[in-house]
Amino acid sequence: MMEEAARERAAYIRKELNRHNYLYYLLDDPEISDAEYDRMMRELVDLEERFPELITPDSPTQRVGARPLEKFTTIEHTIPMLSLENGFDKDEIRAFDHRVKKLLGTDATITYTAEPKMDGTAVELIYEKGLLARASTRGDGFTGEDITANVRTIRTVPLVLLSDPSFPIPGRMEVRGEVFIGLSGFRSLNKQRLEREEAPFANPRNAAAGSLRQLDPRITARRPLEMFCYGVGVVEGADFNTHWEALRILKRLGLRINPLARICRGIESAVEYYREIESERNELPYEIDGVVIKVDDLGLQRRLGKKSRSPRWAIAYKFAPTQESTSVVSIEVQVGRTGVLTPVANLAPVSVGGVVVSRATLHNEDEIAKKDIRRGDTVLVQRAGDVIPEVVKVIESKRTGGEVRFRMPDSCPVCGSEVVRLSGEVARRCINTSCRAQVKERIKHFASKNALDVDGLGDKLVKQLVEKGLVGSYADLFALKRDMICGLERMAEKSADNLLAAMEKSKKTTLDRFVYALGIRYVGQHLANVLARHFGSLERLIGANEEGLLDLKEVGPQVAGSVVAFFGNPENRRNIERLLASGVMPEAMPLLHEPVLAGMTFVLTGTLSSLTRAQAKAQIERLGGKAAGTVSSRTSYVVAGENPGSKLDKARNLGVEIIDEERLKEILGGGSNAS
Ligand code: IVH
Repeated sequence: MMEEAARERAAYIRKELNRHNYLYYLLDDPEISDAEYDRMMRELVDLEERFPELITPDSPTQRVGARPLEKFTTIEHTIPMLSLENGFDKDEIRAFDHRVKKLLGTDATITYTAEPKMDGTAVELIYEKGLLARASTRGDGFTGEDITANVRTIRTVPLVLLSDPSFPIPGRMEVRGEVFIGLSGFRSLNKQRLEREEAPFANPRNAAAGSLRQLDPRITARRPLEMFCYGVGVVEGADFNTHWEALRILKRLGLRINPLARICRGIESAVEYYREIESERNELPYEIDGVVIKVDDLGLQRRLGKKSRSPRWAIAYKFAPTQESTSVVSIEVQVGRTGVLTPVANLAPVSVGGVVVSRATLHNEDEIAKKDIRRGDTVLVQRAGDVIPEVVKVIESKRTGGEVRFRMPDSCPVCGSEVVRLSGEVARRCINTSCRAQVKERIKHFASKNALDVDGLGDKLVKQLVEKGLVGSYADLFALKRDMICGLERMAEKSADNLLAAMEKSKKTTLDRFVYALGIRYVGQHLANVLARHFGSLERLIGANEEGLLDLKEVGPQVAGSVVAFFGNPENRRNIERLLASGVMPEAMPLLHEPVLAGMTFVLTGTLSSLTRAQAKAQIERLGGKAAGTVSSRTSYVVAGENPGSKLDKARNLGVEIIDEERLKEILGGGSNAS
């Protein structure tokens, strides 16, 4: 393809991809399948690789994350980014309405726009001639940090504005909004972090703020950030009359607006809106901490003006705080699947944001020492979404002197075995792998949804099975007989049969689930899948040595050591053999391709007869090779198809080996070890 044709094609695909992105993320109404989207994306990546000069900043390929920065530079906001005055009850909100009317010298009903107050972090986007040119944090309100590269990775932020016949794209347009992480994104992010034994984020707001402040945009690209826009700064050439109108235009330009925003005539209607949102709050897929009520008419907004840090035309009507104070009744120590001891506070029950909290994790002994939490203390607890409640701090003024300091036990509180604190780790561990607490947790993990998925094998049942001595390891599960289960609490014959049927069903599984279920340290769902697909079968994985494991990009010495130690342990091997003997069948997985072409560069010229260029390129890349657009002395092979171009001459001049399509297919076919 000639460059001109490539340029046109790239522009077309880019426009289409941006449009489909809008349909998918903003309207939730996709027109094409994910596979089709991926295919177009691959074609664009392909074109841009062959003609790098075609890469534009608005290309959806640029979302993957640019190179790391040394540090953030600062950006001055044209109009300061203000904060909001808070109101906590309806009287304060009515007082706000009175003030507004008084300042405007009117008795007439005021129209407001009310929106959820997102609990994330404020960001300003600057579009120049419709292209996302810069993005910054709020900072001190006057200057913020330049986080353009990070914001580009957020799928719900358009890289280019959609054209709209009723609104010519302004030369410059400043848009403001909140970047946040939704609850499901937050949960999976923290799950991943725990699997890698990294500290989880305390709440979605911290996770969002931390992700935006990464110097390496490739890290940000992997965080599930989203954005809702809630206002504008300078917009050249535009003359909006109302805030509502501005929101509607933003939406038409492809920016994401909270669909719960609403026009409210009169303050009572806004108070009613607050009540509705408050009652829906726990069902929302993201966290909010109140609603924002804004005078809708922009002319009135200008007349009202601002105080030093906040506008007079808006107020945040905040929900009751999700922090409450209560007392620490006791501190107990739980033992996890890998023996880690976790201190947990039993609290005097207290309602926090509508949910009764009676326990809070204290994370580890360093955390307790840092916060100096003692039995009997009055503490501030907080609940972030449906995340585990935690103790924010001790209210020291409430100390009576009778509080008891906490000491981490030297022996396991469940089995009495020795407890060790390995160097470099915060956690103490019980080293007895037959510790009942560990056994229970391992069985729960084995039966969990993403592992063998044994329906009905819940916490209470596992507890009974282990405590009655019926089950000592997950291998014992499949030896359970009907009469053994029937005697248990709340286990009638019917439920026993259901459980046995569920266990029978779980025997048919896939290798990645099976590997995950084994509970190998550091091997979470993702790594289990990588291992399963690399080794293909359980025998091969068991037989792998550290060197073989380290060949994998995702595997470091810690994981490799842990996998080898796990399969080297005779008891683990015996358990696996028993599982297989009782009929558990982890289905082998198709192998990933070995990178046999690593370090080799191919250049394609002319037309291939049996595969498209994109297919050839994909196959080369799957085997670790590169497909380039131009011939150089570093090119390994030039593949000449029908009607080859000038690249062939260049190859001859440089002495690069020229091969035909048949030879290419041999190389591709011979290199694959797919089963
Ligand atoms: S309007 C001048 N609308 O709340 C008023 N702010 O306390 C500008 N926030 O920094 C803010 N959701 O990050 C507005 N729907 C919303 C909001 C919202 C969240 C945040 C914003 C701001 C903070 C002010």
